[in-house]
Amino acid sequence: MKITFITGNQHKVKEARGIFDNFGIELEHVDFGYPEIQGDLVDVAKFGAKHVAVRLGRPVIVEDAGIFIKSLKWFPGTYSSYVQDTIGNKGILKLMSDNTDRYAEFRSAVGFCTPKTEPKIFLGTISGVIGSSEQGNHGFAYDPLFIPEGYTQSFGELSTDEKNKFSHRRKSLEKFAMWYKDYVGD
Ligand code: IMP
Repeated sequence: MKITFITGNQHKVKEARGIFDNFGIELEHVDFGYPEIQGDLVDVAKFGAKHVAVRLGRPVIVEDAGIFIKSLKWFPGTYSSYVQDTIGNKGILKLMSDNTDRYAEFRSAVGFCTPKTEPKIFLGTISGVIGSSEQGNHGFAYDPLFIPEGYTQSFGELSTDEKNKFSHRRKSLEKFAMWYKDYVGD
């Protein structure tokens, strides 16, 4: 069983491969740009999946994710990519320097679509806190800042395998994988 994952992010490909291995799904990676519309993660994933499925003429998945920080009114959220490229982790730590409420969530929306059907969405969330400094050099982007609930280490200090056991992406991709096995009829 195979699925085409559309992303320009090699870290996401590595994580998704590790997760799909548990479900006997082979991942084919295609780096194909698509417009990211204004809206929430679900809107972005729905539009992207439909756009690429029609363009490539085959079933695909896309994934849109972000970090949502409660004391910053859920910023950067859907702007996570831009904020990472501009102010980065140091900028986030600065914005939060006086905040005692450190609660944050990573959220992931996986969109599946075929050229002839409407998109289907699978969601995953992981709760945690923003640490007081960057910790670790595994993973990518906000990983060194995010300490998942029940842990003392950040995602940046965990291996991909460990992160993959319970991350936001694990949850959304696992929901997709279980549904997809039925859908394909294997
Ligand atoms: P997008 O889903 O490619 O639009 O990514 C949004 C941005 O959220 C990424 O560029 C990262 O900055 C951030 N992000 C999403 N998932 C993760 C993760 O698992 N770890 C760290 N940062 C993430």
